[in-house]
Amino acid sequence: MTMLPTPFNESSLKHAVRWLRDGYLVAFPTETVYGLGADATNDEAVRAIYHTKGRPSNNPIIVHVADRVMAERYAIFDERAAHIADSLWCDALTLILPVRAGSVSPHILAGGKTIAVRAPKHDLAQALIRAFDGGIAAPSANRSGNISPTLAAHVLEEFAQHHGALRMILDGGHTHRGLESTVLDCTSEQLHILRAGSLDAAYIEAVTGHSCSFFAHDASSLLPSPGLLTSHYAPSCAVRLHATTLKHGEALLAFGAYDHMMGIEHACAVRNLSETGDLDEAAFHLYEWLRVLDHHRPSCIAVMPIPYDGVGKAINDRLQRASAPRTV
Ligand code: TXA
Ligand code: MG
Repeated sequence: MTMLPTPFNESSLKHAVRWLRDGYLVAFPTETVYGLGADATNDEAVRAIYHTKGRPSNNPIIVHVADRVMAERYAIFDERAAHIADSLWCDALTLILPVRAGSVSPHILAGGKTIAVRAPKHDLAQALIRAFDGGIAAPSANRSGNISPTLAAHVLEEFAQHHGALRMILDGGHTHRGLESTVLDCTSEQLHILRAGSLDAAYIEAVTGHSCSFFAHDASSLLPSPGLLTSHYAPSCAVRLHATTLKHGEALLAFGAYDHMMGIEHACAVRNLSETGDLDEAAFHLYEWLRVLDHHRPSCIAVMPIPYDGVGKAINDRLQRASAPRTV
């Protein structure tokens, strides 16, 4: 089956909604990364997400909604959560809240009592959710453990060999932010960031007036967000961080000026996350450049140091996982 990315228009939107209603999967762009979408209330369709992605069944899935009113169909908001959603949505922020019992397929929750909800800030995603008139369950549209897709072509690359229940890839060009949403757990008195993402903690604190701490997990504790540990977001080649010199056959993922770098003449390929050292630009390019460099089949992708300020924390988090020892 060939499944070329489909330009977005009224007719493709109608088709996408029909596929979702029939229990199939539709990939669609959001402002962060492309999602692999299914009807959140349909057991078979949600199971197909796990199967098509090769995702472990203990890793719960985000439900995408148009706004807080729609989110209330699936999640229970207290006053604080309502205030956070009203202050920051639509945007790259996922809220973990108590689930409204029986509102979605239990497979989405992976055995838990909480649900992840998010209202994406993307016209096409919004149009799809509103036309479907219901929550769309969607993890990032990559095979489990691989790099998240920021272009429709990446989704095709991920599922060309194994498309499972995927029937359509809606093409919205490059995603605007390029890095996943921040996952904020609102189920206890202290707000916890479970996954660093496009919105950084200082911004969330400034806008909402609530302090949020990073969830500190040690290897022995149960993971609150199973997508958090081990190798993830990984290209097929090795990744080496904080590189200040280059070895023969390596590819360079640069950040800022790199001409001075020792061994630069050995680079088999180079991409610069941001020539001017802009972290938002680096987030935008990160996944695409990792894919491009990986295609050069280097011995390793060497990554220059990236500051931990703002979205730099999330960038470093992803690179750390990309460089982690592979478990599969
Ligand atoms: O930007 C994004 O968040 C993208 C786009 C498509 O919306 N989606 C995405 O989904 O990154 P995924 O499945 O690749 O990552 C979702 C993360 C995982 O780490 C998962 O464990 C966590 O959210 N998660 C989902 N439901 C949860 C829950 N009920 N409790 C704790 N963590 C949850
Ligand atoms: Mg993912």
